[in-house]
Amino acid sequence: MLCSLWEGSFLQTFLLLFLIFLILASYMQRRQRRPNYPPGPPQLPIIGNFFQMDFKRPQITMQELVRKYGNVFYMEMGSISFILVTGLPLIKEVLVNQGQVFIDRPQVPLNFYVLKSFGLVMSNGQAWKDQRRFALMTLRNFGLGKRTLEHRIQEEVRYLTEAIREEKGQPFDPHFQINNAVSNIICSITFGHRFEYHDPQFRELLKSVDEVIILETTWQCQLFNVLPRIMRFLPGAHQKYFQEWKKLKSFVVRVIQQHKEDQNTGEARDFIDAYLKEMSQGNISPSFNEHNLVWCTLDLFLAGTETTSTTLRWALLYMALYPEIQGMMMAPGQKRVTRPSRILPQKKEASIYIEL
Ligand code: HEM
Repeated sequence: MLCSLWEGSFLQTFLLLFLIFLILASYMQRRQRRPNYPPGPPQLPIIGNFFQMDFKRPQITMQELVRKYGNVFYMEMGSISFILVTGLPLIKEVLVNQGQVFIDRPQVPLNFYVLKSFGLVMSNGQAWKDQRRFALMTLRNFGLGKRTLEHRIQEEVRYLTEAIREEKGQPFDPHFQINNAVSNIICSITFGHRFEYHDPQFRELLKSVDEVIILETTWQCQLFNVLPRIMRFLPGAHQKYFQEWKKLKSFVVRVIQQHKEDQNTGEARDFIDAYLKEMSQGNISPSFNEHNLVWCTLDLFLAGTETTSTTLRWALLYMALYPEIQGMMMAPGQKRVTRPSRILPQKKEASIYIEL
């Protein structure tokens, strides 16, 4: 009988109507829940404002929406609702004056799927406070903000200039060398040593760091935030994103394992040693566990690599586009280099001449 009903398309029509009813009911319910929310672009049921975002250039979408709806507006991406605040006075109001209200990180499905709420960047509440306090204290013990780290940075700069010299004055993309140099600073603190620029394994790891940053902005990863239960079974850029995280995680797990095998009883040599020692003490917060060790180390590695190297690459790009600035950036006592002919100013692609 069921078969005949289906063939007669009654059941199909009924299911379709029922589905439309459910979608509309959930949409109306969500609208009722937020009567006092600020204005925002109209949302579609389930996906919200997904199709209004240009994921390749989100800043442009945001600028357009700010022009239309003002400095505070409301958006939805699947199950995530958010209010966007822009402009310095309002940002200060939210993050400084009302900091305690807005202190927590939201649980975004994509990040939650990878790291749950472990680590420094995505954790909240008491666990975040404990992990952050410990990380700051340990980083300071290993020289953060002190002369000892400055010397380590100067030493790394020498390796970097040597790597640039190896290019023998030919044009090259400095992306990788800069990433490696910057990363080595945080690596000496977290892993206890730096990595050679020719190390193929570390090169792969730095590629994974780049990949996760780039992949996170793809529409497949963003759609994962809208429909996590469905997307986790479908192929796409989000699966590559998870794989890259897996590679990064297994690298850190391996390093932690090595540290456990040759852990000494004396002074901690690096962040991982210090964390293992903390874990071995009694009466500590339950958030000091191996998951948090892995994710705090990864957070420091990623945050300490990507941010600073991207900032430095932007600086190089601007120096290439505005070559006159290069003559002004000399160390005290150093002779000014003001030979525009050596700076390749005519080319509008990013090119820079570095005097070593
Ligand atoms: C140009 C360099 C950098 C920029 C622009 C930058 C920017 C930021 C921003 C905007 C945040 C979010 C802050 C918040 O939500 O309250 C953050 C958090 C963080 N950064 Fe950086 N950062 C830089 C360098 C570094 C370095 C070198 C490290 C490594 C020690 C680092 C480690 C972290 C960590 C662990 C967090 C999470 C802190 C928390 O949630 O408690 N950052 N960074």
